Amino acid sequence: MAVTATLIPGDGIGPSITAATLRVLEAAGAALAWDEQLAGMAALAAVHPPLPDEALASIRRHGLCLKGPLTTPVGVGFRSINVALRKEFDLYANVRPAVTMMPGGRYEDIDLVLIRENTEGLYVGVEHYIGMGGDPRAAAESVMLVTRFGAERIVRYAFEYAVRHRRRKVTLAHKANILKYTQGLFLEEGHKIAAEYAGRVEWEDRIIDATAMHLVLNPYQFDVLVMENMFGDILSDQMAGLVGGLGMAPGGNIGTDVAMYEPVHGSAPDLTGKGIANPTAMILAACMMLDHLKQFECADRIRAAVQATLSARETLTPDLHGRATTDEYADAVTRALR
Ligand code: NAI
Repeated sequence: MAVTATLIPGDGIGPSITAATLRVLEAAGAALAWDEQLAGMAALAAVHPPLPDEALASIRRHGLCLKGPLTTPVGVGFRSINVALRKEFDLYANVRPAVTMMPGGRYEDIDLVLIRENTEGLYVGVEHYIGMGGDPRAAAESVMLVTRFGAERIVRYAFEYAVRHRRRKVTLAHKANILKYTQGLFLEEGHKIAAEYAGRVEWEDRIIDATAMHLVLNPYQFDVLVMENMFGDILSDQMAGLVGGLGMAPGGNIGTDVAMYEPVHGSAPDLTGKGIANPTAMILAACMMLDHLKQFECADRIRAAVQATLSARETLTPDLHGRATTDEYADAVTRALR
């Protein structure tokens, strides 16, 4: 029986990498059906608000969504639809694996997972200007919100993830040396939860800036990493760099009732309309969704086909120093399905 999920192709390169992903899913026989919805600039262009009620109702109904990237205007205009979706459905855990799919890169055999708190921190969007000396915008202030509840549930999620996936170690990265209240609370909850898993999962805490450096020096010392929202946003892009770039990095946004899968990257305005974006991140995001639905065999076959295509190095998109189009790459993955 096919499971129906909301499909949001997204903005910029979104529609083309989505079309490529759907072709691969269909060829692999994934038991999925789609309820396609508009959001972001695509919705605005169709004279809808950027996050239409129909899209929200669809996600609520199906509890499952595959989403392309959505453009957010910088500085002005509407607030991030991605952030709004995460808030609306309380998608508190952002799971971002970084796994080597193509040999011959800067590092071999990377297999890391970053678990990012997705609803709190600086991204709650509570910010304002402060007027001084006649300048109404002389300063600006943002609130970093950390709740005991939010910290506890994300660290617990990371440990549960480690147990479920037979992972060795959890690293909690923080800045409690400087941000003693917000990051201090996050770390305090980390210690409490870690104690519950003592003897089952190894654990350590590290300062975020040192973690960033050690990820580059020796990524193999890490396994599962957990951190607050903005730190996780930045370090997950860094981790994508360990495995070939943003075109390779998928993510899941997980809540109690809804799960939403997407590439880590954005709408890539510089590539829009050129037909050369790498659809791997979106294909791997769809595989995470198949895992969630326990369609493991199908997900594994697609991942093996992606790996085979990347290893063969014959049909690669330009971000991987090839000359293939998005569609040619998707066709090669489809042909590599066993
Ligand atoms: P971006 O991720 O779109 O692009 C950064 C760089 O990576 C660009 O050089 C781009 O060409 C390259 N890139 C990204 N995806 C690629 C792919 N699949 N294949 C090959 N190269 C790829 O980040 P940027 O430019 O900062 O943001 C563009 C827009 O996307 C903004 O409006 C931003 O707010 C939005 N965004 C949306 C996200 C989401 O929907 N989850 C996440 C990140 C950004």
